[in-house]
Amino acid sequence: MHLINFKDLSGQQLMEIIDKGIDIKHNPEKYRTILDSKSLAMIFQKTSTRTRVAFEVAMTQLGGHALYIDWRTTNFALADISDETQYLSRNVDCIMARLIKNVDLQSMAKASRVPVINGCDEKYHPSQAIADLITMKEKKGTLESVKLVYIGIHNNVCNSLVEGCTKSGVKITTVTPIFNEPSRDNELLENAKKTGLWETTLDIRKAVQYADFVYTDTWIDMEFFQDSKFDAEKEKRIKLMMPYQINNELVKESNAYVMHDMPIHRGYEISADAIESPKSVIYEQSKNRLCSAKATLLKLLEKY
Ligand code: CP
Repeated sequence: MHLINFKDLSGQQLMEIIDKGIDIKHNPEKYRTILDSKSLAMIFQKTSTRTRVAFEVAMTQLGGHALYIDWRTTNFALADISDETQYLSRNVDCIMARLIKNVDLQSMAKASRVPVINGCDEKYHPSQAIADLITMKEKKGTLESVKLVYIGIHNNVCNSLVEGCTKSGVKITTVTPIFNEPSRDNELLENAKKTGLWETTLDIRKAVQYADFVYTDTWIDMEFFQDSKFDAEKEKRIKLMMPYQINNELVKESNAYVMHDMPIHRGYEISADAIESPKSVIYEQSKNRLCSAKATLLKLLEKY
């Protein structure tokens, strides 16, 4: 079993991962040696703080070992991805990869003899969504009929939230004036629509009114953030998206918790006052990447 997105997981299986994550968070000693002698290869084509740290610390705290591999310093950069994966998967027990293109991740999964975890590509960010669902369940005690409003660009994080929420009983409203076309997955959106749990609107104030959580993410994909070729698009997006910033004025009449998957661009998708307000669960949410990583690894390595 791989974790590329949530398509191959039933709602029940996803709930098992969320509940396992919460159990591991509160009872870490129960799991100290469960991955004894297991190795995880972590391959990165892009930058990361949380995904790298969460999976590496997860392996250490579960009794196993993680190898950080920068794509550019390996022969993945030179050779066929399938051949390199054939080799790699004969030496490790699991692979976590943050690749630029989902098509490459699919090739890796096809060639691998061991589970492959998507550490974020242009279409999906499933390990982030698991941490987000854990955060919501911890705060509300249940996911059933909890209301999440995602405000920003419809991107990889948004796709995984739509898929994860609609599979776990969360009502999700997306307020996304821009659709990041490389992220588009019509099948995922059609499936979400059929559940009746996903709706989309541009009426940000109405959407926020009854929200339990409001969530935002970067307006620019990480690989383009410091790319001067993307400057014009960046300016265009900032102008169009500023009215959709999460700030204290927007949530002043709401009891909603504020979420962000980080890294944060202060003053753009979210204001400093919203990040630091008592309603913010952002840092707790990022901490939950660790128990999310542990629960995902144990699921894929068939430990429950
Ligand atoms: N949210 C997230 O994936 O963080 P990193 O990009 O730092 O891994």
